[in-house]
Amino acid sequence: MTVRKLGRGVAVVGVGISKFGAFTDKTSRDLFVEAYLELRTTVDKGMEPAAIEALYLGNFSSDLFEGQGHTAPIMADAVGLPQIPAMRVEDACASGGIALRQGVMAVASGMHDVVLVGGVERMTRLPTAQVTDTLGAAADVLYEIPAGFTFPGLYAAIATAYMHKYGMAPEHLMNVALKNHENGALNPKAQFGVTIPDWMQGRITAAQRKGKPVPTWADPMEFLHDDAANPMVAWPLRLFDCSPVTDGAACLLLVDAERAHEYTDNPVYIIGSGHASDAPLHGRADMTTLGAARSAAAAAYAQSGVSAADIRMAEVHDCFTIAEVIATEDLGFFAPGTGFKAAEDGVTARDGARPINTSGGLKAKGHPVGASGVAQVVEVFKQMRREAGPRQLQGDVPLAVTHNVGATGSTCVVHVYERRD
Ligand code: COA
Repeated sequence: MTVRKLGRGVAVVGVGISKFGAFTDKTSRDLFVEAYLELRTTVDKGMEPAAIEALYLGNFSSDLFEGQGHTAPIMADAVGLPQIPAMRVEDACASGGIALRQGVMAVASGMHDVVLVGGVERMTRLPTAQVTDTLGAAADVLYEIPAGFTFPGLYAAIATAYMHKYGMAPEHLMNVALKNHENGALNPKAQFGVTIPDWMQGRITAAQRKGKPVPTWADPMEFLHDDAANPMVAWPLRLFDCSPVTDGAACLLLVDAERAHEYTDNPVYIIGSGHASDAPLHGRADMTTLGAARSAAAAAYAQSGVSAADIRMAEVHDCFTIAEVIATEDLGFFAPGTGFKAAEDGVTARDGARPINTSGGLKAKGHPVGASGVAQVVEVFKQMRREAGPRQLQGDVPLAVTHNVGATGSTCVVHVYERRD
């Protein structure tokens, strides 16, 4: 592997994120403007919109979701930047992370000093069945979709292969869902701002109020085993193993590191960027690891000169609970076949040794596919600057990682972040 250093340092100096959820009254433009307006409030020393030289926008399929293509100039115009070069990036659910990489390259190369990186997706305008078909376009439409696969089905196949190889039980995945919903409950921007125990209690209270039979779940695990409360989507994945269908947007202001002080005394530096591709799932020898994630992580670590052991926290692509387990192994945090045990032992919890998805992840925060890779950086920025409120990690976060996947791992992009005192 050829390791090249970034030509110039790159710093994140502001972030914004819309509320994630299902909105009947918000278009992609509304969501992107919401995120951008928040970004403007987070740049400590203020920013002049006129300083923004380019927009790199992650968006999977506004064409199919909203009937609107050519999204980047529309978003640039919506935030009052109609003249800048604006470019849309599409790499399935990794669109946001790849847009970030384009922004990093633009600044690192000296092409631009100040760029806006964004991501947006409005998915809930379509019914779930059509969302499933639309997302299916990111898989192999010759060999996977005609065989009956959907995205829950593809990740169910991954989970089954992993269970067979490593002896994981479906119950182990529930620990990931419990943790991510617990984190999401502390994130005001999350689609699901409620823990699973509270969700369970809400169902009990509602049944009592309506005079219906009151469920007798003894604990959240029993709730998650109940086919009525947590229906099977694609065995072994149930409802609470899936990320939801989400509307949302996020954005970041990237600047030349040497000019970061013009914007803040507290920047977050991007010190490594790795990107790799792979065959669709049916073409891979091993379904229990994502080769592209391993390659992207190796490239990002090599570029930044750090190793997995140095990383304090990570936001990873948990589109399904099994995806988080495998991500934590592919990033080198845990040995193959042990990621699910780490989740069970609380290692990935906020108070664990290697917190994962403190934002709630895609599972609880939500997964507006083109925005997710950008939203991950919003959480890293807040955690590193100690601005994450009730979900703030104890102690410093000097190094962090984001891991964003397209489809079942045909694309993966990994970034490494550093906070310097
Ligand atoms: N996790 C937990 N609860 C969920 C949920 C999820 N992922 N998705 C929906 N719900 C809840 C809703 O809040 C609602 O609860 P309520 O009855 O208390 O109000 C209930 O389940 C039904 O919601 P609905 O929107 O009708 O669900 P659905 O059956 O249409 O869709 C899934 C559920 C899992 C099929 C859908 O969320 C999905 O397709 N997820 C995967 C998305 C995906 O593939 N993304 C790309 C990954 S690569």
